[in-house]
Amino acid sequence: MSQHLTVVDHPLVQHKLTIMRDVATPTPEFRRLLQEVALLLAYEVTRDLPVGAVTIQTPMSEMKAPKLAGKKLALISILRAGNGLLDGVLPLIPSARVGFVGLYRDEDTLEPVQYYFKVPDALGERDVIALDPMLATGNSSVAAIDLLKDAGAKRIRFMCLLAAPEGVARMKDAHPDVPIVTAALDERLNENGYIVPGLGDAGDRIFGTG
Ligand code: URA
Repeated sequence: MSQHLTVVDHPLVQHKLTIMRDVATPTPEFRRLLQEVALLLAYEVTRDLPVGAVTIQTPMSEMKAPKLAGKKLALISILRAGNGLLDGVLPLIPSARVGFVGLYRDEDTLEPVQYYFKVPDALGERDVIALDPMLATGNSSVAAIDLLKDAGAKRIRFMCLLAAPEGVARMKDAHPDVPIVTAALDERLNENGYIVPGLGDAGDRIFGTG
C-alpha cells in the first residue's frame, strides 16, 4: 500500500458512518452497521495483498487464475472494540487466523499496559491486519503494533473506523511502514482523548455498556 493514510470515502461507508455517529442509534443497529462498514473497509485494506496464479479447470477450459499467495492472513483485534470490526472482516476472510491484544491505560503513568496477548504462529510470514475502531491519541495502537513487531510481524496494516489527526501523526512517527485505512479523519481530540465529532466510546456503543 503506497500511501500512509487512506480515507474510504465511498457513499455506502459514509452513509452508514453517519447513522453510527448519531447518538440516537441504538446498540444493535450500531453493531450491525459496524460489521457492514468493516467488510467494506476490509475490501480496501486488502487491495494490494499478494496474489499468485494457479491452474484450474472451469467447465469450459483450463485457465491460470489469481489466488491469494502466501500464508493465511492474521487479523488482530485490539480489545475490546476491535472485536466489533473483527465480526465484519472474518466472514469476508474466513480462513484468516485471529489474534487478540489487550491493553489498559495505567492511571498514574497514562501509559498502555498489556494484559492479554495471543497471536497466530509464524506472524513474520503473514500479512497482518490490526483492527481498532478508534485511532485517537494513537497510544494504544502504537503500543499494540510495537507488541506485534516484537512478536515478529513484518507486514502490518491498520484498519480503523475513525481517526484523529493526532493519532495519525503519532502512528506515522512510530510506525511509518504501517498503512492506515479509515472511514473518516475527524477534526480533533478533546481534553479526555475522545475524537470530536466522533461517535463516543466505541466499546460502549458496540457492547451497550457505559
Ligand atoms: N476511544 C473511543 O472509543 N472513542 C474515542 O473517541 C476515542 C477513543
